[in-house]
Amino acid sequence: MKGSSNVLVLGVTGQVGKLVATNLKGRGANFSVGSRRKANLRELADQFGASRFIDLDDPRTFDEALNNVTSIFLITGYTVDMLVQSKSLIDAAKRNGVKHIVHLGAFTRDHDVYATVFAWHQMIEAYLRDSGVAWTNLHANMFMQSFLSVWSIKGGLYSAYTSKAIGFTALEDVTEAAAVILMEGPQKHTGKDYWFSADVLTPHQVAETLSTATGRKFTAAVRKAEGFQNDAVQSGSAFEPAYAKGGFELFGQVEDGRMAYIGSVADDTKKLLGREPLLLRDWAKLHADELLEAACRESGAAPKAGIASTLASFVKANNDRDTDSVAACFSRGAVVHDDGQIIRGTDEIRQWVAELFRKFQYVVAPTNVRELENGAILTATITGNFPGARVSLDYHCRTLGDKIDVMIIQPSRVTK
Ligand SMILES: NC(=O)c1ccc[n+]([C@@H]2O[C@H](COP(=O)([O-])OP(=O)(O)OC[C@H]3O[C@@H](n4cnc5c(N)ncnc54)[C@H](OP(=O)(O)O)[C@@H]3O)[C@@H](O)[C@H]2O)c1
Repeated sequence: MKGSSNVLVLGVTGQVGKLVATNLKGRGANFSVGSRRKANLRELADQFGASRFIDLDDPRTFDEALNNVTSIFLITGYTVDMLVQSKSLIDAAKRNGVKHIVHLGAFTRDHDVYATVFAWHQMIEAYLRDSGVAWTNLHANMFMQSFLSVWSIKGGLYSAYTSKAIGFTALEDVTEAAAVILMEGPQKHTGKDYWFSADVLTPHQVAETLSTATGRKFTAAVRKAEGFQNDAVQSGSAFEPAYAKGGFELFGQVEDGRMAYIGSVADDTKKLLGREPLLLRDWAKLHADELLEAACRESGAAPKAGIASTLASFVKANNDRDTDSVAACFSRGAVVHDDGQIIRGTDEIRQWVAELFRKFQYVVAPTNVRELENGAILTATITGNFPGARVSLDYHCRTLGDKIDVMIIQPSRVTK
């Protein structure tokens, strides 16, 4: 279907815009892609058919870029600049007779919220509604593609910033829907809000789903919401600090219930595309190789050391049967409480572990790490040649710096 519209797709060097353009190309649409990268324009034209120069930070480039354009896929990056970029582009669209703007926003299902990024997108949408240009807003919840980012699943440890369930959407769904909306045009889609939140999962369920899909063990660590501000701005991340602050607010407000709706299913994929949306289990199978690669990525962008990484070392050292490396996870004066036994200091800890290794063959499989104010609780399933052969244990840890200072080992309340 090749409509009479002439679509301009923004953000095509990014993850969403690229997939929207690929979908439009596959459907034979009449479109061009916009980029601020002059050096890449020819390559983009070869890839997608036509390209135009546009720099969202320089509105003087807009009029030429919008020449003969009838519809825009409006997407901005992970920056507060989205406000002025979108406002000035909407003004230019109106000036140039653009008929339809399809905007990618956030999952602002509850209107009365104030987490930064969500409020930014709501402001853009209010300005768009007021502009007189026909509009359609896409409201996507967490992208499943985020699991492929540098900091999200490093070493097979999924860093979540709330213990609560959150909703996910596959960009395959959002971007195919965007292409269909752009091609079907404002007659069918003007004034419509569409929602994309297909699968709601706790951190533990995410890790289990990724493990099942890839055959590699993934575990989940629930980190403090504040941690997102550091982790999300590591080198290689697209997030600027002001945007990362929005993530911290989001996760904090999901945790305390103010944004509980983030953990809800609301998905218009079927309505728009006539097929069911992808669930994480489907998406993870499609992206199993990339997930495995992301999980193995080397240290350039490693999460900063902390109790979660000390506990990962503790688990690895146990499974490697490496007494010294287990002892190295503890402070010099550390105390361990294990089954009525009290072990004091690293020398005794080394002897305790050596004795365990001598008596038993066992494997520690972490199922959760929950970070606390001064420590963390590691939950793990232990299987081996001990009575019962399988037990789920909670390792309650108090920390001194990055070392374990006190460890109390108890059966988990729920044994799996
Ligand atoms: N991650 C999520 O879970 C999630 C959920 C809901 C909504 N969102 C929204 O999705 C959007 C980000 O999408 P994405 O993941 O596709 O981002 P992305 O991969 O970082 O891509 C951003 C795109 O915007 C382009 N861009 C940035 N500044 C530009 C400028 N001045 N002029 C022209 N183009 C410019 C970039 O081009 P260059 O290559 O030239 O930099 C790139 O193509 C944000 O608005 C975010 O709020 C994200």
